[in-house]
Parts: sequence; structure tokens; C-alpha cells
Amino acid sequence: MEITAKTLPTFIIGNPISHSKSPVFQNAAFNHCNINSVYLAINIEKNDFEAVIAGLKKINIFGMNITIPYKVDILKYVDELSEDAKLIGAVNTIEVLNGNWVGHNTDWYGVYKTLELNKLSPSQDCLIIGAGGATNGVIYGLQQYGVKNIAITNRTKDKAELIKDQFNIDLIDFEEYKSKIKNYSLIINTTSIDFNKLVDSFLEDKTYFDLKYYSGKIDMPNYIDGKIMLLYQGAKAFEIWTKQEAPIEIMQKAMEG
Ligand code: ATR
Repeated sequence: MEITAKTLPTFIIGNPISHSKSPVFQNAAFNHCNINSVYLAINIEKNDFEAVIAGLKKINIFGMNITIPYKVDILKYVDELSEDAKLIGAVNTIEVLNGNWVGHNTDWYGVYKTLELNKLSPSQDCLIIGAGGATNGVIYGLQQYGVKNIAITNRTKDKAELIKDQFNIDLIDFEEYKSKIKNYSLIINTTSIDFNKLVDSFLEDKTYFDLKYYSGKIDMPNYIDGKIMLLYQGAKAFEIWTKQEAPIEIMQKAMEG
């Protein structure tokens, strides 16, 4: 679609942001569906966050995505929150509704679709390693899928403890999880470090799900990277902004291209 004075911007804000694949697949989707918007990434320094958000609130935008490390910081700038975002406690998508910012969370849907498309049974015993910004959405997605037995472990115990209480799941000491890993069938890495540093070996009877989408180098059928999660959180955001079905195949092709 031709860019004119009527074209509205959609932003993704975060830090760092230069590696993000979202601009590539969201612009492909906008083009394919004739949506008059361009999707751009902006890197924001922590000290400038408030000023940049105040500026963005003064202009007409089509929509926005928020990524690490601002998914919680953005909460106090939204006018309304969707039920999902409220329960997760983080926002990754802003819908502009009559000039108001409505905060949504679509990360959980990416997790849900990852489980569904990999035909994983909800009757998994799941261990989550990590308690960072993405973890709440992961647990919410698992619970929406029907996974009941969920445990969390994290280097900094306090952070895992809060999440344990929020979602009513189990907590395992970081010093002990390796000896207990045999009790779990689905292991999820939400930390910023590589999976092979967290497990001694990859066992065939377990599924390993890594939120990172650039580390799919572990060549095992039971290893899932974050590609599907990224794609479907983006597809859901597209649908929130445009009120139309996301062109998944176009987006996937652009993302992998
Ligand atoms: P995000 O920006 O995703 O929120 P984060 O909050 O820094 O990132 O979370 C990163 C996750 O990786 C945390 O669970 C972190 O553990 P801590 O809570 O103890 O910091 C985990 N992590 C990072 N480096 C790690 C390491 N070397 N060993 C174990 N866990 C690590």
C-alpha cells in the first residue's frame, strides 16, 4: 500500500530491539491486507521511557507492541486493560480505541498455539526454568491449554515465589531442579541463557520448549523453539488492531525469509 499522509504508524518499543522480526512480518501482513499502516521498531533508553510514551500518547498511532523490558512498565500508561493482561500482569499489545490505549497480552496465545500445533497433551507435567518478563504469559498460556501440573524454578528464588503464588503452581529450588527434572515431561526455558546450559542432556521422552527463536540449532524432534510463539502473538496483535483474520502464511514466510 502506498504510504501517504493518512498512513498511521504502528510501533514496537523495547531495548534492545534491532534483532526483532516483528517489523518484517507485520509489514508483510499490513501490505497483504491493504492496511494503511507501517510498523516500525523504536529502541528506548530506560531514562527516556516516560517522555517517549508521553509523546506517543499525543500522536495518532494505529497500534503498538511492547517488548522486553517494558511489558510491565507500560501498565501505568494504559487507560484500560483486557482480562488476559490483567491476569498476566503485563502488556505486549496496545489497541487504540476512541483515542484510549487498551492494553492486551497476546504472548500467552503464542504459547497456547505452540502446544496445540505440536499436538502436546494438556496432561503434561511441566517445569518452567526462569522467572523473567515472559514467564507469566507462558504460565497463563499453559493453564488456558489445560496443563495442571506446573512447577517453576529460578536462580533468584523471590521472583519465582511471587509467580508461584500468583498462579498457584509449585516451586522447586534452583539447586535441586536438575535432580527432579526426571519427574517432568515438558521443560520450558524462559531464561535468557541457552537450554544446554540448563540441562545435562536432552532426553527423548521429554519435550523441550525454548522461548528464544534464534536458538533452534538443537536438532531434535522434541525440541521446540520460539518461532510459533512469536508468530502467533503477532497474529493475535494484528487481529486486535485490524479486526480481521491474520494472514498467517504470509507472516510466517516473511519471518523465515
Ligand atoms: P526479561 O527481560 O526477560 O524479563 P529478566 O527479567 O532479566 O529478563 O529474566 C531473565 C531470566 O533469566 C531470569 O529468570 C534470570 O534469573 P534471575 O531472576 O535469577 O536473574 C534468568 N537468568 C539470566 N541469567 C542466568 C544465569 N546465568 N543462570 C540462571 N538464570 C539466569
